[in-house]
Amino acid sequence: MDKLLIKGGRQLSGTVEISGAKNAALPLMASTILCKGETVLWNIPNLRDIETMSEVLANMGADISIEGGGLRINTDTLINKEAPYELVKTMRASVLTLGPMVARFGCAKVSLPGGCAIGARPINLHLMGLEKMGAEITLSQGYVVAKAKRLKGATIYCDISTVTGTENLMMAAALAKGRTVIENAAREPEVEDLANALIKMGANISGIGTTTIEIEGVDELRPIEYKIIPDRIETGTFISIAGITGSNILIKNCHYGHVLAIAEKLRETGIIISEEQGGIRVIGPTPGALHPTDVKTLPYPGFPTDMQAQFIALASLAAGTSIVKETIFENRYMHVAELRRMGANIEIEDNIATVRGVKRLLGAPVMATDLRASASLVVAALAAEGETLIDRIYHLDRGYEKIEDKISALGGNIQRIRQSGTV
Ligand code: EPU
Repeated sequence: MDKLLIKGGRQLSGTVEISGAKNAALPLMASTILCKGETVLWNIPNLRDIETMSEVLANMGADISIEGGGLRINTDTLINKEAPYELVKTMRASVLTLGPMVARFGCAKVSLPGGCAIGARPINLHLMGLEKMGAEITLSQGYVVAKAKRLKGATIYCDISTVTGTENLMMAAALAKGRTVIENAAREPEVEDLANALIKMGANISGIGTTTIEIEGVDELRPIEYKIIPDRIETGTFISIAGITGSNILIKNCHYGHVLAIAEKLRETGIIISEEQGGIRVIGPTPGALHPTDVKTLPYPGFPTDMQAQFIALASLAAGTSIVKETIFENRYMHVAELRRMGANIEIEDNIATVRGVKRLLGAPVMATDLRASASLVVAALAAEGETLIDRIYHLDRGYEKIEDKISALGGNIQRIRQSGTV
């Protein structure tokens, strides 16, 4: 397993380019199931999760290639085949094939994703919505099977705002007969991006970006070319990196409107964040001058749970106590034990983390436990004194494209130690 070796304490400078959003790319890839022909996706990040979704689609017969930077997915030869356990267990977003498969083929079989490091993460709302649309759902030997000759429009109320649930149902409804209304729909920019792509494919969708999405089903959709939005969580991670290292960097290819909650909160810590021509300028305060502040994770447009771990790393070095409340996932504090190994003073009680800022963090061998936990260790390591060796960075490779190259280009001291021991 590859590791990252980081020597902290350096100030960074220069420009970093944000990649396409993983969580927008994955549903867009699944949406190609809805029609025949070749779809071309631009700004696709080169990530392990994208490879996994490609494998899921290829297993169903799709022809996938990368040409000139565009991901080409041809679904002419797609057959009705399951998303197998071997792939779903490595990436739960494979469940995004469920809605499009049943809508296009009248039957879908997808391995049930189990819990993961950050929580139980059930998919009951995906299934409830499909059932409301007339699908017959059965669970057998770890697989969910959904059947419907043709899905029909329905009013679906989600009692919890679910990102991939809204996406799955929106894709299914695009080919259903009649009107579907999703109430308490997720408003994340990635949901909007999918809706915009579906409209380009010929779908009839209104209410995008609100909690009520209405979809008038159509008989057929067509393939498109589409450019994926920039990754707002990668953007927020680089704001945190600049903030904790007291650096001045320009973040390019990002969307300021998508990081408003992150920017507002991180400004409270003393980081200067301003929109300027070509990107977002971030200037971190001098080391030791970060202010504490409190954060509660919420669905968009609130502060994202996917930034909670990076925020805790930052708050670890603030001059005072910050209170963090995680409201989305029940077990998303796995990074805390590792940050403590670096000298952070953090207490967890239920879903609340009390982060008492310390004067310095010290490099240590630590272990990545999930994607954003890994990112928080990188943030902390860049500000820590001495060397930090982060193990199990395959988690990081699922969601951050070339992170060590991007940080090196800013002047950070970071090296990937390959499994073979080579750098
Ligand atoms: N939930 C249910 N039932 C459902 C669906 C969700 O109870 O049927 C609960 C979940 O257990 C959780 C809450 O609803 O408590 C919100 O979960 P959501 O369904 O929105 O999460 P998700 O769609 O599985 C996506 C992202 C996550 C991100 C969350 C929250 C993708 C592929 N994944 O997951 O991204 O944390 O939304 O914003 O879009 C990451 O990138 O590191 C990551 C984990």
